[in-house]
Amino acid sequence: MPEALQLEERQACPLDAFRADVFAGLSRRQKALPSRWLYDARGSELFEAITKLDEYYLTRTETAILNLNAREIAAFCGRDTVLLEYGAGAGLKTEILLNALESPRLYVPIDLAADFLQQTVMRMGDGFPLLEIRPLIADFNTDFEIPTTVPARRRTAFFPGSTIGNLDEAETLLFLRRVRKQVGPQGNALIGIDLKKDVSTLLAAYDDRLKITAAFNLNLLARINRELRADFRLHLFAHEARWNRLESGIEMHLVSRVAHMVRIEDRTFHFASGETIHTESSRKYDVAAFADLVRAEDWRVGAIWTDSEKRFAIFGLKA
Ligand code: AVI
Repeated sequence: MPEALQLEERQACPLDAFRADVFAGLSRRQKALPSRWLYDARGSELFEAITKLDEYYLTRTETAILNLNAREIAAFCGRDTVLLEYGAGAGLKTEILLNALESPRLYVPIDLAADFLQQTVMRMGDGFPLLEIRPLIADFNTDFEIPTTVPARRRTAFFPGSTIGNLDEAETLLFLRRVRKQVGPQGNALIGIDLKKDVSTLLAAYDDRLKITAAFNLNLLARINRELRADFRLHLFAHEARWNRLESGIEMHLVSRVAHMVRIEDRTFHFASGETIHTESSRKYDVAAFADLVRAEDWRVGAIWTDSEKRFAIFGLKA
């Protein structure tokens, strides 16, 4: 990696952070685990496979929106922009944007996973040999500084994939505030959001016929077994996707098929039959609700690009 610009405290010992989240999450009345732990190497592979599924319309729809509106989006960002990508996993989408941008000044992929960042840097370096790339190791869900060596003017934050939907309401507002501060008074943001639609389409996207999403969800238990010496028996859990109307989101759960105990290091956790671990929420917005949210954090909605079926939207925000 050319330059590791920042190391978050969390990164210093991710295993301690993982253990603390697992113990705290499984001690709650509604057992829950933070969705960011879904992405170990296997989890990232499975997520990549999810993005190609028929039922998972999100990735191909957002990619099509970017392709179709690339020139307009590039004009919105302006020339010589410094592109800050929050979570450096968008691959093809970032390439579409970088190809369209007029003389991008610098590309700063931001991610907590150093190995993942390294892959991004190598791939983008091959595809864009003239582009300066400066990776930043940071958790975009915590407060972190953009180093002063990154030009402060003409910054554009890029947060595609509807990843913002995986944050809860407080985290979403904090994220919008943080990004606004980080891009500065003349900055922009491009944020991808999944739009509300019929529940059957949403449920299918999170419970596909090939059971890849089920494998993605269950892999979290395999990760706990491996990293925290636990004895989860994966066949005793089933994947479930649920629509939570009040939260306007799809939830992923792991449902215990029978009453049983699980040992994790020196602790024991009891699971009742039918009890669930909530592993992820994926919020779906309507355009007006998301616009209200960003305005509350002092952003102006400059443009909204969407597909003909209004499945997905990319918001162009001005600070
Ligand atoms: C990364 N994130 C936006 C995905 C989503 O749709 O919430 C993660 C995912 N979970 C299950 N399928 C995909």
